[in-house]
Amino acid sequence: MSKQKDNDYPKIKKSKRLLERAEFLIPSGTQTLAKGMSQYSRGVAPSFLERGKGSHVWDIDGNEYIDYTMGVGPISLGYCYPAVDAAIKAQLQDGITFSLVHPLEVEVAEALHQIIPNAESIRFSKTGCDVTSAAVRLARAFTGKNTILCCGYHGWHDWYIGTTDRNRGIPAETQALTYTFQYKDISSVLDAIDNDTAAIILEPMVFEIPRDNFLHKLRDICTERGILLIFDEMWTGFRLSLGGAQEYFGVKADLACFSKAVANGMPLSILTGRKDVMKLLEHDVFFYTTFGGEALSLAAALATIHVLREKNVPAFSHRRAINYCMGIMKFVKISVLLSPAA
Ligand SMILES: Cc1ncc(COP(=O)(O)O)c(C=O)c1O
Repeated sequence: MSKQKDNDYPKIKKSKRLLERAEFLIPSGTQTLAKGMSQYSRGVAPSFLERGKGSHVWDIDGNEYIDYTMGVGPISLGYCYPAVDAAIKAQLQDGITFSLVHPLEVEVAEALHQIIPNAESIRFSKTGCDVTSAAVRLARAFTGKNTILCCGYHGWHDWYIGTTDRNRGIPAETQALTYTFQYKDISSVLDAIDNDTAAIILEPMVFEIPRDNFLHKLRDICTERGILLIFDEMWTGFRLSLGGAQEYFGVKADLACFSKAVANGMPLSILTGRKDVMKLLEHDVFFYTTFGGEALSLAAALATIHVLREKNVPAFSHRRAINYCMGIMKFVKISVLLSPAA
């Protein structure tokens, strides 16, 4: 059998042309780093998706793909999930943003209060970094201390991004207030703590399971030293289990931050936490925003939470992931057995 190279593969002509237009006007051609060409192979990967259904997406040249990235996290039920889309359409008939509080703000808060372990009090916003930054400000106000220890990615705001090498424009004084520590390395946490530490914020799990009671040890350290423990649950929330990492690992944070999976693609972020800490939001700590109560996203969240709960989606995803890994292991085993060196 003869093989021929197809020089025109993949067929992404339209993508390439639109990318040129995008890069002329939009810095890096994207609003989201993870979607841009710095993350993909230029000239090989498509740049623009225009349609999705379930786990499949279509690029502007008509190619179909399985989207394992799922919108960089938010698509927890699949593109165009009927119950969520119906909730958005129904709300659209009545309006999007109002001049007073919308009942959905209360209904979604009550649903979250039932499923998230530390959700004694709840505030909505739009982006992940809105709520991580609000949590950091709250921790400083509550403890009267200033330094922050962090581990993981927490958004574009000064307090966090100043720890990275993309820190131009951030005052040195701000950069000096945030330190990083190594995941699962308690001694790196203890080394970084000082008398002025207000909070430890981390993604409770990224790729590795926290062994040796790492999260429980962090909890104890924070309680002993008057430091607030903040979980950044953008990825673990509504996924690891319905109540996120706090429920899955049986550890309560003082504050927890959510976004991504809660509204199947609509923009919503959530800050939950201890009532005595969150009470500061009533006056001393300012965290209000015009679109915090935007009703389409809240309608989508209520519908998404309902489906996640009724169909026990986190457990379903675990089973699928385990089967997938077993499949890969079987494949690797067979490949090794069949390889000439074996
Ligand atoms: C763990 C984590 N925290 C915070 C953020 C910031 O969220 P956003 O991009 O919505 O501001 C992200 C974004 O990917 C994230 O992965």
